[in-house]
Amino acid sequence: MNVTDRQARAVGILQNNDTGLFIKPGPRQYPHQWNWDTAFVAIGLSNVDPIRAWQEIRALLASQWGDGMVPHIVYHTGPSDYFPTPDFWQIHANPDAPEVDTSGLTQPPILATAVRLLHDRAPDTAASAGMVREVYPQLLAYHRWLHTSRDPENSGLVAIIHPWESGTDNATRWIEPMARIIPTDLPAFRRRDQVHVSPEERPSQDDYDRFIYLIDFFRRRQWRPAALYRESPFLVQDTLFNALLYRANDDLRALAVELSQPTAEIDAWQERTRQAFRQRLWHSRDGLYYDYDLRAQAPIVENTCACFVPLFAGLPDEEAAGRLVTGHLLNPDEYAPDGRLRYYLSSTARSSPHWQPRRYWRGPVWAPINWLLIHGLRRYGYGDLAELIRRRTLDLIDHAGFHEYYDPRDGTGCGSDDFSWTAALAIDLARDFI
Ligand code: DGY
Repeated sequence: MNVTDRQARAVGILQNNDTGLFIKPGPRQYPHQWNWDTAFVAIGLSNVDPIRAWQEIRALLASQWGDGMVPHIVYHTGPSDYFPTPDFWQIHANPDAPEVDTSGLTQPPILATAVRLLHDRAPDTAASAGMVREVYPQLLAYHRWLHTSRDPENSGLVAIIHPWESGTDNATRWIEPMARIIPTDLPAFRRRDQVHVSPEERPSQDDYDRFIYLIDFFRRRQWRPAALYRESPFLVQDTLFNALLYRANDDLRALAVELSQPTAEIDAWQERTRQAFRQRLWHSRDGLYYDYDLRAQAPIVENTCACFVPLFAGLPDEEAAGRLVTGHLLNPDEYAPDGRLRYYLSSTARSSPHWQPRRYWRGPVWAPINWLLIHGLRRYGYGDLAELIRRRTLDLIDHAGFHEYYDPRDGTGCGSDDFSWTAALAIDLARDFI
């Protein structure tokens, strides 16, 4: 497919998924606004419709909670056939909840990175500077909420309380922490995520019961952050989430400098996070980053795509970056395409006994992960490898369509079709940036 055809089709998908107020991640499977989807969609839109890109960000930030939290789902348009329904979350028991219905969870915080990128690319710098001035206090409040409510011990790593907050819901890294949770007294619910997508490509029933059990646990505590941190049976310092927050803080800091705002608070967060990545998450014996389970007080020894996200944030030193790339990314038993795998980047290493190439985050290839990896590799001087993965990712999308995720063995499209972030990032990856 040539660049113009691909772009026209991608723009068509974004237009079809556009409700006027926000762009749905997928036409049927996800009919509301999602947090990190919004950021990736805005990044893609910055190439073709910067004004619409800003509108995405503003629509999401309109749902910010009084304490700073930016939720993972916003139900601007009321209920749909998506479950959990807006009322299921019972967020209005919390005085900080906004007027609009939202979930009570958050998602990987890549929003400030999207805002900086929009601003850097803006054709109309005066208008863009006005937008930055408007959203900066909201972004700062969000990051401050993460660094306090989710890291009350000042460890430098914020905790997530639900696998949905990781964005990688059923990743193999959550198998152990989820296995410890016994979902008793589950509220009555009907799963809807298998209506439009095959059950084989979705999380298992065991996972789903625990997802709902956790939501019920939190709503019984009125979504009070201190109680959730203290009592949640799932409490994990996630590599992907913290690496994106670290990068987003760098981007927030650049915006602060431009607005002549103080930066000391951000600098202190960054210093602590850098140290914690080195001391707690990096495992030099294996040359990998592992998440840390605060409930088990132990690392989660799982080799997944999350290990490569610190490259995007500039966290590893040269030696650690080299070990990630040569020891793992280029290893055909784990990630490198060979006769058995055709495409980067499987969301779980192929060597994992839990690898399932079509089941959501247990093995498939995802466009945003490839986008993060490509930028991370470029940052560390692996330009040729980044270029190879960029081209192969576009080949995959051209060959299979704009799916939610793909089987890394043969590129079969899985999950939702006409997926917004895949379309948006296909536009972005087609930029001649090498
Ligand atoms: C879902 O419903 O599967 C979503 O991933 C939750 O964010």
